[in-house]
Amino acid sequence: MTTLYTNIGELVTNDPTQGDGSPLGIIADAALVVDGDRIAWVGTRVDAPAADSRVSCVGTSVIPGFVDSHAHLVFAGERSAEFAARMSGEPYGTGGISSTVAATRAADDAALRAGVERLAGELLRAGVTTFETKSGYGLTVVDEARCLQIAATVTDETTFLGAHVVPAEFRDDRDGYIELVVGDMLDACAPAASWVDVFCDRGAFDVDEARHILTAGMAAGLVPRLHAGQLGPSGGIQLGVDLGAASVDHCTYATGADVEALAGSPTVATLLPGAEFSTRAQWPDAKRFLDAGVTVALATDCNPGSSFTTSMSFCIAVAVRDMNFTPAQALWSATAGGAAALRRADVGVLAEGRRADFVRLDAPSYLHLAYRPGVPLVRDVVKGGQQELSRRVES
Ligand code: NIG
Ligand code: FE
Repeated sequence: MTTLYTNIGELVTNDPTQGDGSPLGIIADAALVVDGDRIAWVGTRVDAPAADSRVSCVGTSVIPGFVDSHAHLVFAGERSAEFAARMSGEPYGTGGISSTVAATRAADDAALRAGVERLAGELLRAGVTTFETKSGYGLTVVDEARCLQIAATVTDETTFLGAHVVPAEFRDDRDGYIELVVGDMLDACAPAASWVDVFCDRGAFDVDEARHILTAGMAAGLVPRLHAGQLGPSGGIQLGVDLGAASVDHCTYATGADVEALAGSPTVATLLPGAEFSTRAQWPDAKRFLDAGVTVALATDCNPGSSFTTSMSFCIAVAVRDMNFTPAQALWSATAGGAAALRRADVGVLAEGRRADFVRLDAPSYLHLAYRPGVPLVRDVVKGGQQELSRRVES
């Protein structure tokens, strides 16, 4: 069964060999053909081949589905009071994580699964067709393992973050906790995870600890990524480059040397506008990374403490307004950039043979994602060739 989506006013392909030849590969008055779960053809409407069925997209623009390469969806409870305190001047620190850890440990599997499914639904309605999610709020062998098993029911991109913080019961025995993480916890978690992550920052883990944990994860077959440079300058960014991490995330306090190291490496810098927004932190300047040639991703960092949003459109708007992205760079980073951060060649680009994951916007151009902040422009979402969400009846 093939389906022709036609009369697309503006199609963003992320394929620079298409259309305007820019990195977004924008085709005006476009069409695309879906065959099963894949894109079979992309081009201008007048050149489109015949297909078994036809969907007219008059008045809409089409973009690749968002790829959210950084989220923490498995947890219980919420921390709105902590947010309110911050907006009254309290600083953000790692201390709040312990309240989510307590709530997560106390929640049964059904409650955790319901929470993850609710957030996965929000992501889909926001136009996200691929997302990553982590453990990190269990911090016992049993709780980290069940969090990952629950995560694996909603995505293939699962990350072991047993090294989120040292839990209270190990306050006087950091080394004991780290040995647990690289020992029994890793053994229990590795089967349900693809990635290993460490929060390498003030109040969490230092560079030597992070190296030890990531190296152990790599020996267990996991691929490293890490949280670094969120709360202050941290050798974590350089460590990520040294270990060949897929991505170093936050990078709020990246130094010039960090940017240079990233530029000379395949490691992606993932910027998380929701975290700066919700912790009232300084804005990282994306232009520094982009001008140096670093591959940059944008992700939600959805979590109950520092960034409780599932809206990639919101992240794009903030990135453009406050982080020095152009609208084109922000869209690329939220789609192809996220795919690079997850080392996925099958998503993030609309070209023949790639997954048919795309979003129709109720807008003439992707520019409206930043130009109309806060407006729900996602009209429908096609994932693996299937219409997953539709706000309107097809014409
Ligand atoms: O990515 N930075 C570390 N972890 C999360 C926040 C965790 C929390 O506050 O619950 C983040 O921002
Ligand atoms: Fe995070």
